[in-house]
Amino acid sequence: MITIRQRLLLLLLPALVILMLLGGLADYWIAVATTRNAYDQALASVAVAAAASLHSDDGRLQISAAQRAAVAGRADADGSTLYSIIGPDGELIAGSAQLPAAAPSSGARNGSVSFRDADFQGMKLRVASLRTRTDSGPVTVTVAETLQRRASTQRVMLLGKLLVDFAELDVTLLLIWIGVYFGLRPLSRLRERVDEQSTATLQRFNEADAPGELRPLILALNHLLELRHDAALSQRRFVADAAHQMRTPVTGLLAQLELLLQAPGAVAVKGELTTINRSVQQLAHTANQLLALARAEPVSALGESFKPVALRPLVEQLVERNVDRAVNAGLDLGADAQAAQVTGDAWLLEDLLGNLIDNALKYTPRGGHVTVRCGVEQDQPFLEVEDDGPGIAESERQRVRERFYRLPGSPGTGCGLGLAIVDEISRAHHASFTIGLPSQGGGSRMRIRFPAST
Ligand SMILES: Nc1ncnc2c1ncn2[C@@H]1O[C@H](COP(=O)(O)OP(=O)(O)OP(=O)(O)O)[C@@H](O)[C@H]1O
Ligand SMILES: [Mg+2]
Repeated sequence: MITIRQRLLLLLLPALVILMLLGGLADYWIAVATTRNAYDQALASVAVAAAASLHSDDGRLQISAAQRAAVAGRADADGSTLYSIIGPDGELIAGSAQLPAAAPSSGARNGSVSFRDADFQGMKLRVASLRTRTDSGPVTVTVAETLQRRASTQRVMLLGKLLVDFAELDVTLLLIWIGVYFGLRPLSRLRERVDEQSTATLQRFNEADAPGELRPLILALNHLLELRHDAALSQRRFVADAAHQMRTPVTGLLAQLELLLQAPGAVAVKGELTTINRSVQQLAHTANQLLALARAEPVSALGESFKPVALRPLVEQLVERNVDRAVNAGLDLGADAQAAQVTGDAWLLEDLLGNLIDNALKYTPRGGHVTVRCGVEQDQPFLEVEDDGPGIAESERQRVRERFYRLPGSPGTGCGLGLAIVDEISRAHHASFTIGLPSQGGGSRMRIRFPAST
């Protein structure tokens, strides 16, 4: 997967390489032109100095020995004498007669210097010729130098410029990288906030402090969240309505079945009626569980209806309600309730504890013990149901919270929604739900720990 940063660099890199190539060509041209101008000026000044030092001796033009040495020393790049001074009649006053002179450019004034490149005795030369008038007549002073010194100066200049360009490119790339990194920070932050979202806490994103470019995206995300929220809400309503619609006829059916079972004529079909009765009871239980789950789901604005709820009366009530059932199942059901209070929904907490007690009574074999506790531990209120039944293997403790999941071979009837309901209600109360072992012996210890502030 290509990131935006990589994509930007891939787009920018060819442009930067082309720019660098063009920059290199420009550098080359500047190095050549600058060096040529500088060296040509120096060469011209040698010719001018030589011409200025010409003097007439017995009617013949002469150049002093000192100046001749100076000219030869300056104009000579490789030890050979590369100059010539041609007198008014074309006679050689000094230097080498074969040295080609540079032709004057059209419209050249007296005293101006013209330049040319020439091949002389196997050497490539830069030639400067000065045509000037003396008292004795016109004189042409030509000085020449090989191209080595220019070439090496050009190389040094070019290399220096290329190095600077390369360093500039590096710094530019670094600045682009930094710019892109910081420019995309709001996007990374948005992604982190999207990652932090969970179904339990789907929250709108705040577009007020986002950069202008991101605002449309945030608005679109918020719109999507609203759609998702609405869809979840209507699904929850549908489940709740369906379960509710089912409950009324199913309750009626159960009442009719009870009557039928007691009717004298029912003896012949008592077995079948009992089976039907069990199935309808199971249906009623499923409808109730679905309703409880729909109530607990976090899409509803549950937090707003939360009030202080005392846990001790809740525990005592539910234990009392289940005593007969426990006695019938041959179980010892007890309560160990300490004062504790949470902020929550009393109906939901009743659903939660009801499911935990139901499971303990359903899955603990005859002769077992079930204890329901509440209290405060380390400032955190808790609810707990402990039994000495078969327990839940550690590898299954996560899966049993899933909807409609029952452990293979689970006894009794059930639809696999109880612990999913417990999980949802715990989350709605920002509480943690752990499935563990009792402090002694085998069995299960289901514990809900509420936040300390509630
Ligand atoms: N106290 C317990 N001891 C042993 N196993 C348990 C206990 N509580 C739950 N389980 C196992 O976890 C599974 C999931 O429990 P859950 O309450 O979600 O579903 P259920 O009891 O099968 O159906 P429902 O509660 O919807 O009637 C159960 O099928 C059971 O195997
Ligand atoms: Mg259950």
